[in-house]
Amino acid sequence: MIKLLEPYIDSEEKKYVLKALKKKEISTYGRFSNLFEDKVSSINLAKYNLSLTSGSVALYLSNKICGATNNTIILAPSYTFVATINSIVHTGSSPWLFDINPKNLCIDINQIEEFLKNKTIKKKNNFYSSKTNEKILAICVVLTFSILPDLKRIKILCKKYKLKLIIDAASAFGSKYKGRALTDYADIVIYSFNGNKYVTSGGGGVLSTNNKTIYKKAKLLANNGKTNKKYDYKLFGHNYKITNLHAAVGIGQLVKYSKIKKKKREIQSLYSNKLDNKYLSFLPKILNINYFLWLNFVILKDKKSAKKLIIYLNKKKIDSYFFWKPIHLQDFANKINKENMKFTNSIWNRLVPIPSSIGLKKNDQIKIIKSLNKFKNDK
Ligand SMILES: Cc1ncc(COP(=O)(O)O)c(C=O)c1O
Repeated sequence: MIKLLEPYIDSEEKKYVLKALKKKEISTYGRFSNLFEDKVSSINLAKYNLSLTSGSVALYLSNKICGATNNTIILAPSYTFVATINSIVHTGSSPWLFDINPKNLCIDINQIEEFLKNKTIKKKNNFYSSKTNEKILAICVVLTFSILPDLKRIKILCKKYKLKLIIDAASAFGSKYKGRALTDYADIVIYSFNGNKYVTSGGGGVLSTNNKTIYKKAKLLANNGKTNKKYDYKLFGHNYKITNLHAAVGIGQLVKYSKIKKKKREIQSLYSNKLDNKYLSFLPKILNINYFLWLNFVILKDKKSAKKLIIYLNKKKIDSYFFWKPIHLQDFANKINKENMKFTNSIWNRLVPIPSSIGLKKNDQIKIIKSLNKFKNDK
């Protein structure tokens, strides 16, 4: 089977993991987490990077630090991986779900603006939901498949309505916006280094910020609230520090980051140049995206055709499956407040992901392209 997203592992990761093993530094102590953070900083250009056990906990800490508690609301897209929403609920805060924009598959800013204008009341300096009376605290923008929305406009909106901005850039490590670090636009940016991301530490996440106070708070919370003295604690914290072994894998990946990036671009441009838009639309081509995606995908005319295509690809030993099922369609989430989901409802089951692993061989990719171009979704 040609896998959808497979990690790209060679001798580099082995070298650093063996070093960690030899030194018996396999747990949260050791020097690799610092080295991993330094390498992350040299790429994402954030002032502060904190390495953690996962993107999910990075999100949880972000929400906490931004002030998420009972009686607060965080605005987020319904079309996302479930961790975006779990991380809000676990703080006691309420997610409020929004549609996505058909042009970039990211949260619909027009809908958010309408909501803030028409469905909130201003009390002192803050805005509260006129329905639930909870304070609107933050917007969590998810960079869907690494796609970048208009961050400048979102930043301006957040300033106007006194909202914190968190960017869930789980799959978008290395992305810049207009050549600048994502942390120049948001209070906090998080990344996932899970095995299905194109740069991985096996399991891991990073919380990035330009704000020293935020960084210090995150570090304290992630390290059981520990001060510099032994067995001395400042607050109720968590053990969210990345292990030295995972950081070693991450370093092995980051030392070959430019090779990974180049490979990613090559895969995307081959799809972009060779995929026939007659029977399926290749969204990045339509959007004229000039940066690299985490995951390439095609859009079919309806759910039935998408299902047919997935079965057809699987028969040819090409991995594909329906991707994120929107949160508002999950049974457990039916009580979450939401806005109209017109576009989310219309797209999630027409979107078919296609293999995008860094190690994807050219002849395998040509096989995928040929198969896709042969498929007629009106048959
Ligand atoms: C949008 C999004 N947010 C958060 C996460 C969670 O990251 P992790 O798996 O590292 O906890 C993911 C993981 O795929 C994701 O895609």
